Amino acid sequence: MNMSRLLTVIVAALMLLSSAAFAGFEPFQPLPANPPIPSDNPQTSAKIALGKQLYFDNRLSATYRVSCNGCHNVMSAGDDGKAVSRGALGIEGKRSAPTLYNVAYQTVYFWDGRAASLEAAIKEHLISPTEMGMKDKDAVVERLWQTGDYKEIFADTFGPGVALSYETITQALASYIRTLRTPDSDFDRYLRGDKGAISAQAKRGYNEFIEVGCASCHFWVNLSGPVPGLAFQMGEGFYELFPNYPGTKDETRYQLADDIGRYYVTKEETDRRMWRVPVLRNVALTAPYFHNGQVKTLEEAIRVMGTTQLGKVLSRAQQEDIAAFLHTVSGRFPTQKFPRLPTSY
Ligand code: HEC
Ligand code: HEC
Repeated sequence: MNMSRLLTVIVAALMLLSSAAFAGFEPFQPLPANPPIPSDNPQTSAKIALGKQLYFDNRLSATYRVSCNGCHNVMSAGDDGKAVSRGALGIEGKRSAPTLYNVAYQTVYFWDGRAASLEAAIKEHLISPTEMGMKDKDAVVERLWQTGDYKEIFADTFGPGVALSYETITQALASYIRTLRTPDSDFDRYLRGDKGAISAQAKRGYNEFIEVGCASCHFWVNLSGPVPGLAFQMGEGFYELFPNYPGTKDETRYQLADDIGRYYVTKEETDRRMWRVPVLRNVALTAPYFHNGQVKTLEEAIRVMGTTQLGKVLSRAQQEDIAAFLHTVSGRFPTQKFPRLPTSY
C-alpha cells in the first residue's frame, strides 16, 4: 500500500472508532443476517447446491485427491487445524489455511489481501500448485466436462447459453461459501442486549481487549476491521504492520517476520510485512495461529499480539480474560449434509 493509501486506512479506522465522528457508531456488531452479494453473481438455491457439490469433490484437483473441504473442513471450524497444508500435488504451502466461515463479509481475500473478491480467490486457488494443482483454467473446465453429469447440472443451473466455464465454476463455489456463516454467538447475543450471555470473566476480557488496544485493529462485524459498505468497498483491504514492534523474542521464536506479506503483491516498500487484519470470529476453534500457523494456543497468540502489536507484556490474567472473551465469538455453525456427487462413468 502506498503512503496516501495507508493514511486513508488509518484515518478511516480512527474515524470509525471515534464515536464523535460517527455518531452512534458501534465498534462491534452482531453478524448481519446477510452478507453482501455481488450483482453479477446473485445467490440461487441451484447454484448454492452445485457449489457445495464442487466443494466436496476431489475430482476438482489435479490428482483427484483433494477437495476444498480437505483444507477448509466445514464439518469442523472451516479450517484444517494444521500449520500449513499439502495440496493435491503434494506441495506444502507457506501459509495456514484460514476458516471460510464468515469470509463473505470480508473485502479482500488471502492473508495478504491479494484477491479482490471471493471469486478471484477461488480462481487463483484452483490452479495454484499448493492447493488444487490443476494445470490451467482449461484443464479445470475439461475435467468437469468429463465428470459424470456435471455439464447437465451446469446447464440446468446457469442456462444452456452460459453453462460450464471457469467463471460459472467459481461463481457456484463462491455462492456456497457465502452461506457459511456462524450467527448468534454469545457475544452477538450480548451485543443485542442479553447482558447475561457472556460470563463476568469474558466481560473483563472484552474491556481489556478495548483498553489494551486490540480493538484498534480488531473491530466490527468480523473483528477484522471495516466490512463492505460503510468505509470500504470490495477490493479495499484493511492492512496492518505485523510485527508492529520488530525485534521481539516472539518474532524470532515463531519466525513471524520471515514472510514479508503484502510486499510480494505490490513490491512497494511500505507494504513490507503488511497483513490483512484477520477474522477473529470462531478464533478459539481455529488453532494454530498466524499466517504461518506457528503458534499453537489462543492464550499464546494473545500474548504474542501483546508483544508484537502493542509493545505490551500482558499478564497471565489478562491473557486468560481476553481468551474467555474470544471464546464468546464462536457462533452457531450451520449443520452440513454431504451432497450427492455426480457418478463418474
Ligand atoms: C491444500 C489446502 C487447500 C485446499 C485444498 C484449498 N485451500 Fe483454500 N486456502 C488454503 C490456504 C493455505 C489459504 C491461505 C492462502 C494465502 O493466504 O496465501 C486458503 C485461502 C482460501 C480462501 C481465502 C480465505 C480468506 O480468509 O481470505 C478462500 C476463499 C479459499 N481458500 C477457498 C478454497 C476453495 C473454494 C477451495 C477448493 C476449490 C480451496 N480453498 C481449497 C488452503 C487450501
Ligand atoms: C496493529 C494492529 C493489531 C493489533 C493492535 C492487534 N492485532 Fe491481532 N492481528 C493483527 C494482524 C495484522 C494479524 C495477522 C498476523 C499474521 O499475519 O499472522 C493478527 C492476528 C491475530 C490473531 C491470530 C488470528 C489467526 O487466525 O491466526 C489473534 C488471535 C489476534 N490477532 C488477537 C489479537 C489480540 C488479543 C490483540 C490485543 C492483545 C491484538 N490481536 C492486537 C493486527 C493487530
